[in-house]
Amino acid sequence: MHPANDLFLAARAAMAKAYAPYSKFPVGAAIRTEDGRVFAGCNIEVASYPEGWCAETTALGHYVMGGGGKITEIAVTAEKMARITPCGGCRQRLAEFAGPEAKLYLCDETGIVETRTMGEMLPLGFEGGTLR
Ligand code: THU
Repeated sequence: MHPANDLFLAARAAMAKAYAPYSKFPVGAAIRTEDGRVFAGCNIEVASYPEGWCAETTALGHYVMGGGGKITEIAVTAEKMARITPCGGCRQRLAEFAGPEAKLYLCDETGIVETRTMGEMLPLGFEGGTLR
């Protein structure tokens, strides 16, 4: 079993709470910080379709409200798609808080099947340093 299987399980438990009556495509995400805290989230859809948001974004909201910190690992899982990767918008949102070395776990229904990094997910991304 993968050593970060607990993070997959947290993402899967979050996926069970997905509110996805329109797409019927439940997604779960879980973020771990270096001190071991885990923040999870599901996708939440809205009848006005563009107003819905992704599981990764919900997880990031919990992460910020929980005090933030250095992100070491992220797991994402979807009931109907093996190895789901975050959408472009969520890559940018995750990169706001997770460095290029943060691990991103891709999962199937059994657990983690592939490990990537945020740097691989969003190369040459826009960085806000100069805006601060
Ligand atoms: N979705 C996520 O939650 N995360 C992703 O990385 C890709 C897509 C959600 C958004 C929408 O509720 C459903 O999947 C179908 O696009």
